[in-house]
Amino acid sequence: MENPSSPSPEASHGGSLRGRFSEATDEFVQVFTASIDFDRRLYKEDIAGSIAHATMLETIGVLSETEKDQILSGLNTVLAEIENGDMQWRVDLEDVHMNIEHRLIELIGDTGKKLHTGRSRNDQVATDIRLYLRTAIDQLVVQQSELLRALADLAESNADTVMPGFTHLQAAQPITFGHHLMAWFEMLKRDRERLLDCRRRVNQLPLGAAALAGSPYLPDRILVAKLLGFDGVCENSLDAVSDRDFAIEFCAAAALCLTHMSRWCEEMVLWSSQQFNFITLPDRFCTGSSIMPQKKNPDVPELIRGKTGRVNGHLISLLTLMKGQPLAYNKDNQEDKEPLFDAVDTLGNSLTALIGMVPNIEANKSVMLQATLRGFTTATDLADYLVRKNVPFRDAHDMVGQAVQLAVSQGKALEELSLAELNGNETNVIEQDIYEVLTLQGSIASRDHLGGTAPTQVRAAIARARLQI
Ligand code: ARG
Repeated sequence: MENPSSPSPEASHGGSLRGRFSEATDEFVQVFTASIDFDRRLYKEDIAGSIAHATMLETIGVLSETEKDQILSGLNTVLAEIENGDMQWRVDLEDVHMNIEHRLIELIGDTGKKLHTGRSRNDQVATDIRLYLRTAIDQLVVQQSELLRALADLAESNADTVMPGFTHLQAAQPITFGHHLMAWFEMLKRDRERLLDCRRRVNQLPLGAAALAGSPYLPDRILVAKLLGFDGVCENSLDAVSDRDFAIEFCAAAALCLTHMSRWCEEMVLWSSQQFNFITLPDRFCTGSSIMPQKKNPDVPELIRGKTGRVNGHLISLLTLMKGQPLAYNKDNQEDKEPLFDAVDTLGNSLTALIGMVPNIEANKSVMLQATLRGFTTATDLADYLVRKNVPFRDAHDMVGQAVQLAVSQGKALEELSLAELNGNETNVIEQDIYEVLTLQGSIASRDHLGGTAPTQVRAAIARARLQI
């Protein structure tokens, strides 16, 4: 709320910062250099940082108790105004920091002008972004955990669902759908670890570095870190205001997480197609076509696949932003926010979409089974059988290749060939017990080791996984 009765002479309210200039800022330059349109998103963090800074200023004797109390209550009023939609954000005040400070001075007068003692927008903005990103990571990690739970649930109900495993997108060997889903679980679990690991380096306090050299007021940085929940303080004042490696790291972790999600989404697109028909996606996550009435389009997984591109782009933006920058703070760094915010939003929204969709994915079990039967997926089991009968693996590979060729030419499955046909020119190495080996269940159950596709192993993997969610 712009209070019409309160004066706003810029020079005395810290709005213009132009004491040493002889002309006003060019109008275009004012808009060009402003960040208020996007950095106002940091208002909560900015106010929290100011409250901690003012609290510390009192303990080192820069502010009296009354002054500190005035500043704290003024900041809380600004916070309430912003949350009620009453704040008049001004582009001539450049950014969120100046807008909030200006409003504070309007509200409480001269005491408000003391808040910026021993502080610069350089350490202020670095603190704000770190606080913002810490909260964002915490929320994203909760979402990742929800998705992991949904994946484990779906895997559990499909621990026995037979499907062809693929290499080169060609049917390769029989596996279970549960096992396949747990592969995505492992990737997403590592993605969550990466965010949590990144959080440790995000959660270090820059404040106290001031513009770049530190502050002669000898700020109690440990106290500020404690008040704001930081794990520690940035050890070097130049590094504190300059580097954005924590944001780059976050974008790398976000890009990788989305890259995994995009791969999985690509499978959903393929598998829900009429050609595959392995899964059915919930109707409410699909869209229709404006011209073709029969269409049910998997827009949500397609869009997640597409959005991965923009987050990969944000990573490159931030790397390029930092590349070649001399120490310490440079205005280039103002460009860190939009890519970072969008990476947070895009990952969050994509996770929300998958959390809603995954529990409602239906496996079309009979279609998966038929595809596995058609794909000669137990050919390797036949070769392994021969190896157990002392045929060297390369010879076994050859014999099975010939059997597959015969089966293809007769339009049969391997287990429909006679013993004579299976043995080909060889002696009678292959015996009646082969038909047991060629079953899908037999093949799957035989991979009964840690990390294998046997249902007992998949169930054990899910049980272990649940302990990690
Ligand atoms: N809006 C600026 C940013 O986002 C705040 C820091 C400005 N510092 C400066 N020395 N101009 O980086």
